[in-house]
Amino acid sequence: MHDVIPKQAVAKSFSNAAQDYDQFARFQHELAKSLIEMCPEEKKQTILDLGCGTGYCLPLLNQQYTKASLLGADIAPGMLAFAQQQYPEFQYAVADAENLPFAEGQFDLIFSNLAVQWCDDFSQVLIQAYKCLKPGGHFVLSTLADGTLAELKQAWSQVDQHQHVNQFDDENDLKAMLGASLFQIEQLNISTIYDYHKDVRGLTDSLKRIGAHNITDGRAKGLTSPRAVKQFMQAMETHRQEAGLPASYRVLSCCLKKPE
Ligand SMILES: C[S@@+](CC[C@H](N)C(=O)[O-])C[C@H]1O[C@@H](n2cnc3c(N)ncnc32)[C@H](O)[C@@H]1O
Repeated sequence: MHDVIPKQAVAKSFSNAAQDYDQFARFQHELAKSLIEMCPEEKKQTILDLGCGTGYCLPLLNQQYTKASLLGADIAPGMLAFAQQQYPEFQYAVADAENLPFAEGQFDLIFSNLAVQWCDDFSQVLIQAYKCLKPGGHFVLSTLADGTLAELKQAWSQVDQHQHVNQFDDENDLKAMLGASLFQIEQLNISTIYDYHKDVRGLTDSLKRIGAHNITDGRAKGLTSPRAVKQFMQAMETHRQEAGLPASYRVLSCCLKKPE
């Protein structure tokens, strides 16, 4: 289990990131495209993009399901305002994935790319999605597991004892929660994806610009000293590869079905 997630801080952080998000979300966008490929081919009429952020996935879903009505939902009002400006053709709603404000059986498909790792309890997300799906409906999602940003975590551990990197659930716990849910698991993949950066500043800046910097409680309060930052940067350099400095993401993707 990870620390309790301060939801207002998550919403604020992502709202503030809305304007810049798409320019820095290279890994998120690539993953979105492969998650769309995991979606079922059968027709879907009502689709929810849960944690839709800037709305990037909505036109992609629309291409695949041309007749569907699409709703983007997110906990961050700033993200939704941006999405509404970009893609006014879709509907939007403020919603917390752990307490969905939708009717039972409202959707044929719930899609969620890299959003539910910001929730306290993955099994609660599964219960909520199950409730809002029609029988035979699908929940296609990606989330992050422990091992994500391992290089940053390792480098900071050489500098101090503070928690500089967000905590993510262990992948075995995530799998156990999937197994204990009422969903049928149609597809399940776990893999590590590397996103390379030219330098440390580029890597940490991009995390900040997408609103995904550390917002959990054990983070260092106040300014980190220049000496600590220098030590951290040196420790990061030990991870350098030919392609650059890696940010690793341990990604769980799955396609779940609510039985008929
Ligand atoms: C990394 S962004 C991904 C955005 C989009 N799905 C994409 O693929 O570009 C994560 C999004 O999840 C939203 N989010 C975080 N916690 C949430 C929650 N409990 N309920 C709904 N959305 C949440 C954030 O506000 C943010 O917009």
